[in-house]
Amino acid sequence: MANVTVIGAQWGDEGKGKIVDWLASRADAVVRFQGGHNAGHTLVVGDVTYKLSLLPSGIVTGTLSIIGNGVVLDPWALKAEIEKLTAQGVEIDAENFAIADNCALILPLHRDLDGLRENAAGTGKIGTTGRGIGPAYEDKVGRRAIRVCDLAHLDALGPQLDRLCAHHDALRHGFGQDPVDRESLLNELREIADYVLQFAQPVWKRLKKVRKAGARILFEGAQGVLLDVDHGTYPFVTSSNTVSGTAAAGSGLGPASTGFVLGIVKAYTTRVGSGPFPTELSDEIGQRLGERGHEFGTVTGRQRRCGWFDAVLVRQSCSISGVTGIALTKLDVLDGFDVVRICTGYRLDGRILDYLPAHAADQARVEPIYEEMEGWKGTTAGARSWADLPAQAIKYIQRVQELIETPVALVSTSPEREDTILVRDPFVD
Ligand code: IMP
Repeated sequence: MANVTVIGAQWGDEGKGKIVDWLASRADAVVRFQGGHNAGHTLVVGDVTYKLSLLPSGIVTGTLSIIGNGVVLDPWALKAEIEKLTAQGVEIDAENFAIADNCALILPLHRDLDGLRENAAGTGKIGTTGRGIGPAYEDKVGRRAIRVCDLAHLDALGPQLDRLCAHHDALRHGFGQDPVDRESLLNELREIADYVLQFAQPVWKRLKKVRKAGARILFEGAQGVLLDVDHGTYPFVTSSNTVSGTAAAGSGLGPASTGFVLGIVKAYTTRVGSGPFPTELSDEIGQRLGERGHEFGTVTGRQRRCGWFDAVLVRQSCSISGVTGIALTKLDVLDGFDVVRICTGYRLDGRILDYLPAHAADQARVEPIYEEMEGWKGTTAGARSWADLPAQAIKYIQRVQELIETPVALVSTSPEREDTILVRDPFVD
């Protein structure tokens, strides 16, 4: 039975929420496999808008939702998000929700460090979401993390806490901060432990069972390939691997289980936070894209930077992530432009490049080479079939698919679940 892995193919905010929600309604399990509550997924179901940061999107439809081991989990953010959704009428219990017991925790000391570093970085700041994501992953890789399973053994946490605090106290000292208050951290963990533990289990085992039963699994990626810690615009990236391959490692299933890789691609480009952005528009066109596309971050409310579609970047992302087909989103934001532009290559020091080079300084210097296309007059908003689209809009989609060397599987034409043109069903393919 087919599984589907959904990933963002740009810098995040491609409109994954809606697509994942639509797929989740047909999946038997939805799994988050990387990132944390830095993600922001907006789901619109009927008249109700749900905003998710940490929980898998399947939670809204009551589908089995799983937080895999690759996620870094803030227990307090988890509780707050569950309480918010419960107040909206969503039922969440140990039957429909599970957390990997080997997940690393995000602690208040991680949030502190994220903020201290960003404040001290001046113009070199990454523009993180301030949620402690990077410091939490550092401690995981540094083998100092407190994990979900540790919450069941808090009386034996002493030596682990010593190692963790010794590391953080040295860093905090460098920023002129007081050492970690160990007692209060331990008390906070004691207060939240049972809440988290009610959902904790070896999710690889649960997923194995789900898989054996022939169920469809939807792997829900967060952020985007260009924010991947290896393949993204380093160091202006998040601290996890956002590529499709992480679905396996971050949930405890083998690489063959990722199935159809659906890359979510916005019809133009946006980015939040700092870092290179070759097609960025600091003029009224960029402003128009931002206004029409409501480009404000779900998590931080920050205004997103906007620019033309960059086919070089998306082709690279699709290749790196083995994308089977893309979902093209927010095409309606381009409605009404006389001319639309697509970046097809870069110029750097007299050379033409068909890829984004690895070095940050080169990434910042590349000059986009544009192809111009005639815009379209009618609207694409709410289209549910090709016949509903203006001819020029169809030409734009065809050109995008040609340039990125990856087929379009679906086109999303509004935040509503039904406003979708389906070309290839990822679950059936
Ligand atoms: P962090 O993940 O909070 O460490 O932030 C690192 C970079 O990733 C910053 O540029 C953030 O703006 C960006 N980022 C993190 N999560 C998201 C997301 O869900 N959408 C878009 N950008 C994100």
